[in-house]
Amino acid sequence: MAKGPYSDKVMDHFMNPRNMGEIEGANGVGEVGNPACGDVMKIFLKINDDQIVEDVKFKTFGCGAAIASSSMATELMKGKKVEELLALTNQAIVDALDGLPPAKIHCSVMAEEAIEDALKNYFISKGQDPAIIEEMK
Ligand code: FES
Ligand code: FES
Repeated sequence: MAKGPYSDKVMDHFMNPRNMGEIEGANGVGEVGNPACGDVMKIFLKINDDQIVEDVKFKTFGCGAAIASSSMATELMKGKKVEELLALTNQAIVDALDGLPPAKIHCSVMAEEAIEDALKNYFISKGQDPAIIEEMK
């Protein structure tokens, strides 16, 4: 029984964030920031030779909705193939959280952008053109 504007799932992921921290030796690190408010989200990916997400962690400096969005995003990313990560739009994250208030949607957009940035850097680290992401979409 959710009270207030946040679903039980948002509250759960805010109070008990999953996969918080950093990965040493991550081969894809993404960072997005909102210059207007100074909020920052970082995603660390460890992708194995089969192009599967072996581990993922996040660090977020932002509001509760941003922390819940990052936490849920990492849960959705684990064990996925690289191309499946591109399906993780902010809408997919919001749906998995049973919704976010309209004023907080932009916080989930940060998660989508951080995932894309991490993937971009993963391809760069492999010596590939990160534009490949646009073709995979
Ligand atoms: Fe900074 Fe929402 S106020 S991202
Ligand atoms: Fe700044 Fe949500 S991250 S308002």
